[in-house]
Amino acid sequence: MNPLKHVAFIMDGNGRWGLKNKNSRNLGHKQGLKTVEEIIKFSIKKKINYLTFFAFSSENWKRPKTEIDYLFKLLKNFLKTKINEFIKNDIKLKILGEKKFSKELNSLLNRAEKKTKNNCKIHINLAINYGSKIEITNAIKALNKKKIKINPHNLEKFLYTKGIPDPDILIRTGNTKRLSNFLLWQLSYSEIFFEKKLWPDFKTTDFNKIIVEYNNIKRNYGSITK
Ligand code: FPP
Repeated sequence: MNPLKHVAFIMDGNGRWGLKNKNSRNLGHKQGLKTVEEIIKFSIKKKINYLTFFAFSSENWKRPKTEIDYLFKLLKNFLKTKINEFIKNDIKLKILGEKKFSKELNSLLNRAEKKTKNNCKIHINLAINYGSKIEITNAIKALNKKKIKINPHNLEKFLYTKGIPDPDILIRTGNTKRLSNFLLWQLSYSEIFFEKKLWPDFKTTDFNKIIVEYNNIKRNYGSITK
């Protein structure tokens, strides 16, 4: 098994890519989805067990309606066209975030999760309407309500990522160095790579370079190097 278990991605730069290439932010998102598909295929070959993609943050609702509508259209289409491939190829899909969407999208998401829940070749987590602060706040509220002792071990059981190993690597493309309310708890000990390229330009060769660099890092988790 690959000791590199989980890679998370902040797919930044779609908008700029689209504007630069065809003066359309939406085209950047469409192209960005192609990168997602390439990364999934490559990760299966590399036997990486978990991928998490930040597809829509709880703050992205501030974007123009036309862009939001386009992103959800892409997502619906992705779910409709990929579900059989996911079932057939042993790919598990999980949504991280508040599932408060249209009836149609909620049922597509629930169906995709249900149909792939026993798959295990690769786990694809899509963070949609996801915000880390609210995730942690809700976990504390749930512990309080159930009168469970508040400690890190118990709190993790109430995060969307329950049972999922923390990311070993976070990659943020688009030449921006921030976490944008993404997996703040889960990234505590992750190795973070900020990549200058825009997400649609990010290739599997770029991903592989990061993996090679990661493999040379000694992770100490707070102890001292032996
Ligand atoms: C950030 O780039 C990207 C997003 C908010 C959306 C990411 C969505 C996709 C890659 C496509 C949909 C994915 C799935 C899995 C259906 P930005 O728009 O903030 O880029 P900018 O910084 O250049 O404006």
